[in-house]
Amino acid sequence: MWRWIFGNELEKGTPMTVDTQILAALRENGAAGIAGTELALRLGISRAAVWARVSELRALGYDIEASPHLGYRLLGVPDLLHADDLLSRLGTTQIIGRDIRVFEETTSTNDVVEKLARDGVKEGAVVFAESQTKGRGRLGRKWLSPARKGLWFSVLLRPPLHPLAATQLTVAGAIALFRAIRLQTGLVPGIKWPNDILLRGKKTAGILTEMSAEPDKVKHIVLGMGVDVNLTAAEFPVELRKIATSLRVETGQRLDRAELAVRILQELDRVYALICSGKFETVADEWEEHCLTIGERVTVRFGERMIQGRAESLDPDGALLLRTQHGHLERIIGGDVTVEK
Ligand code: BTN
Repeated sequence: MWRWIFGNELEKGTPMTVDTQILAALRENGAAGIAGTELALRLGISRAAVWARVSELRALGYDIEASPHLGYRLLGVPDLLHADDLLSRLGTTQIIGRDIRVFEETTSTNDVVEKLARDGVKEGAVVFAESQTKGRGRLGRKWLSPARKGLWFSVLLRPPLHPLAATQLTVAGAIALFRAIRLQTGLVPGIKWPNDILLRGKKTAGILTEMSAEPDKVKHIVLGMGVDVNLTAAEFPVELRKIATSLRVETGQRLDRAELAVRILQELDRVYALICSGKFETVADEWEEHCLTIGERVTVRFGERMIQGRAESLDPDGALLLRTQHGHLERIIGGDVTVEK
C-alpha cells in the first residue's frame, strides 16, 4: 500500500508506505504510545485502515499493543528484515537507502542490483536477502549466506568517478562497516585491505565491488556486503572456523540485524557523500588508522603470480601502495593479501 507524503520525502521523490509511517510513528512515540485517531489523521487514512495495517504487521511478528488509554505501542519486533521497518528506522539520508527491497531468498543480491542498474533504477537502491543460494565473494569464492543469520545486501551506486578510482568505494564500504559494527557492539574491528573486516584476527564481514564502466567513466557500481551477525561458532563449516567469526560469537549476544543494517546504510551515506564531493582523503585517513595491513610485510597473490613487500599507504584512488624489496612502489588494486607474521 503506497501513499505519497509531504516535505523532505516528497522533494526526494520517495514514496513512503503506510506501514513505514506507522512504524516510524510508533518508534517516535515509544512508551507513550499514539492514539489511533492521531495516527489516522497523520496518515490521512481511516482508523479502520490503521487497524488493518497494524493487524498485518502483527501477523509478521511485530508486537503492537492496542490499548484504549495509550493507543498503539510498539513492544517488540521480529528478527526479520522488512523494507518498511528498515525505512522507518533509517530516517533521512542523502542517497543510500531511498529505495529498499528485501527478498526472502535470492541467488546473489549483487545480481539483483545489477539488473536494477540496467533497468535504470536510481543510485542508492539497496537489496537485502534473508538468504542467498549463490552468494559469492572476491576471487570467485563462495559466500555462505544462511537464512536470517547475517546481513547479505547490495547497494547501487553511480559515482562521478573514473573507473580507476572504483576502489574508493570498497574503502567507503569498509569504513561504513567498521563504524556501524563499533557503534553497535562496542568492539573495534580491524580492516584488512581492501575489504575484510576482522575481529580478533578472524573475518566477520566482506565486500564485493562490481563495476560497469565506460573507458573514462563509471556507469554503475554494485557494492555487495556480507556480515556474519548471528551465526554460532558451530554454524560455520569446519574449514572456516579458524578464519571466520560472527558478531554473536565475539559479543556473546544475538544482535538486532535490522538496527545494524540501518547503521551501516547511514554511515555509508555519510562516507559516500564525502567521496562524491572529492574528499576521499578524509575517508582514507580513517581507513589507514584502523587498517591492519599498512606498515606490515605482506604477500599479494594474483593466481600464480605473487608480489611481496611492505604495505605503505593508500593512493588517491584507493589502491594499496606496496614497497618491494627492490625499493619499487607497486600499485595494488586486486589480489589476495596475506600479512606475514
Ligand atoms: C568477500 O569478502 O570476498 C566479499 C563477500 C561479499 C558477500 C556479499 S553478501 C551480499 C552480496 N551478494 C553476494 O553474492 N556477495 C555479496
